[in-house]
Amino acid sequence: MKILVINGPNLARLDIRDSSIYGDLNYKELVMLIESSAKSNGFEADVRQSDDEATIIGWLHEAADANTPVIINPAAFTHYSYAIRDAAELVKAPLIEVHLSNPMAREEFRHTSVISGVATGTIAGFGPNSYALACVALKNLLK
Ligand code: DQA
Repeated sequence: MKILVINGPNLARLDIRDSSIYGDLNYKELVMLIESSAKSNGFEADVRQSDDEATIIGWLHEAADANTPVIINPAAFTHYSYAIRDAAELVKAPLIEVHLSNPMAREEFRHTSVISGVATGTIAGFGPNSYALACVALKNLLK
């Protein structure tokens, strides 16, 4: 089964972001980890990244139309994009929100997620392993 993995703004630049917060993997390595975690759980992951809100909304519409399960790290959009929230709400297959860091343990503006209320669940704070845990969660939800 196909799953769509959506990564939001600045995640393609993990190579220059703070590794003490986001971990040691660069984006290419993160994609490889996601693809192999998906495979071990019986999924084929279509992993995409965009810095653009409209592009992410279009991908969520695509998942809603095709009834594709979604893993999404909305990055900074997590905290204020009502448009991404409304698009995520259209996805009727499971949708898991993931974060590399634990936003609740960081600056106050990161304590709000406008996405969590429409996500099946949220996994945060486990570094790249957050995505692997999300694949396990999806497998359990879909069996
Ligand atoms: C993030 C957390 C967000 O607050 C931040 O803006 C990001 C990444 C994470 O994966 O930890 O860009 O979503």
